[in-house]
This record gives sequence, structure tokens and C-alpha cells, in this order.
Amino acid sequence: MIVRKAEFFKSSSKLSECAKPGLPEFAFIGRSNVGKSSLINMLCNNNKLAKTSASPGKTKLINHFKINDQWFVVDLPGYGYAKTSKTQKAEFESLIIDYCSKRDSLVCLFILIDSRLPLQQIDAEFLQWCGEEEIPFSIIFTKTDKNSKTELQKNIKKIEEKLFLIFDELPNCFISSAEKHIGKEEILSFIQGFLK
Ligand code: GTP
Ligand code: MG
Repeated sequence: MIVRKAEFFKSSSKLSECAKPGLPEFAFIGRSNVGKSSLINMLCNNNKLAKTSASPGKTKLINHFKINDQWFVVDLPGYGYAKTSKTQKAEFESLIIDYCSKRDSLVCLFILIDSRLPLQQIDAEFLQWCGEEEIPFSIIFTKTDKNSKTELQKNIKKIEEKLFLIFDELPNCFISSAEKHIGKEEILSFIQGFLK
């Protein structure tokens, strides 16, 4: 798929503020700073579309971007950012939980996981919750440019072993780098497969 048009549509601080479900939505979630906004920008060929930051906690709202007048990319706040206040953490959590489990037009949730780290407890818990809630999801390993190929393969294998403790079958996984534009074609053609 070629992204020829990508435009900001709306930011919402809770599910009820989101526009009425309509076009199919593909949302990006994961720990704070894992690279959600950067990946969205890479997929959309526009580094200014979603706001990115070197410090965690940048994305605080549900951000809808309309793509090719046909579908939505949704940039969500990250989970598990330790420095957020308790109240804000609870707000983010309920926003994430509400959006992911109740948004009728959500076609696939992309759960981003840092390819350099062991599977974090909070990722394992979120993945398990998605499984229990039967939320359709795929995993995207991020920042793969930061490791050698051997290290990357080793670490992904370890993550996959942990995934087998949660799921009977390995979930659908993609490898990506926003920096090196890796994974773009694969992710976009996966999305294309859902569009009429
Ligand atoms: P929050 O909105 O705060 O939850 O973060 P986020 O998950 O949207 O992360 P964001 O895209 O803002 O990126 C966080 C940091 O990681 C930034 O400094 C990015 O430049 C960096 N980053 C993101 N993707 C990649 C990647 O593929 N490779 C490298 N080397 N750095 C990346
Ligand atoms: Mg972000």
C-alpha cells in the first residue's frame, strides 16, 4: 500500500470523545518510549505527523490520523511510565483499557515491544489481557537498528519463548526500525489485507 495522504484528524482524552466509529482503525500501543509515534511517522512518510520525544510520556491522548481517506492510524499513550503521577497513570490506564476493549471500529491493535530488552512484566501482562479480552492484535518489535543481527535474533527468540508461556501459538510478529525504515512494507500490506 502507498500512503499518499496522512492527516491529523482528532485528539481525544477519553473514548467517549472519539468520533463515532466509522472507518477501520489500526492502533499502536506499547510501553512509553517504545517508539509508537516514530513508527507511525515512518509508515506515513511524515516525521511531523505524530509527536515523538526522547523522554517518555509524550503521547497523552488518543490521536486519530486519517490515511488515504480510507482508514485511521491511532497513536495511543504508552503504558508503564514510572514517573507519571498515580492519578494520571490511572487515567491513562482506563483510557487505554476503554479504547482497546470497547472501540468497535478497531480492526487490529499493534503492540510494540522493544527488540533490545527481555520481555517486560508489564508487556506480558498487557499481552495476556489482550488475549483474555480477545482483542485482535499483532506484535511489532521496535528499534531493531540498535542491535547486531545476531543479538537481535537471540533476543527475539527469548521473547518468543516467553510468549509461548502466555499463548499456545506465537502471535503474528513484525520486525521494525523507524530509523532504518524496516518493516514498512510488511505492516502496510498486512493492513491493506483488511481494507476493501
Ligand atoms: P510515548 O508517546 O512517550 O509513549 O513514546 P513513543 O512510544 O511514542 O516513542 P517515540 O516514537 O516518541 O520514540 C521515543 C524515542 O525512541 C525517540 O527518541 C525516538 O527517536 C526513538 N526511536 C523510536 N523508534 C526508533 C527506532 O526505530 N530506532 C532508533 N534508533 N530509535 C528510535
Ligand atoms: Mg508517542
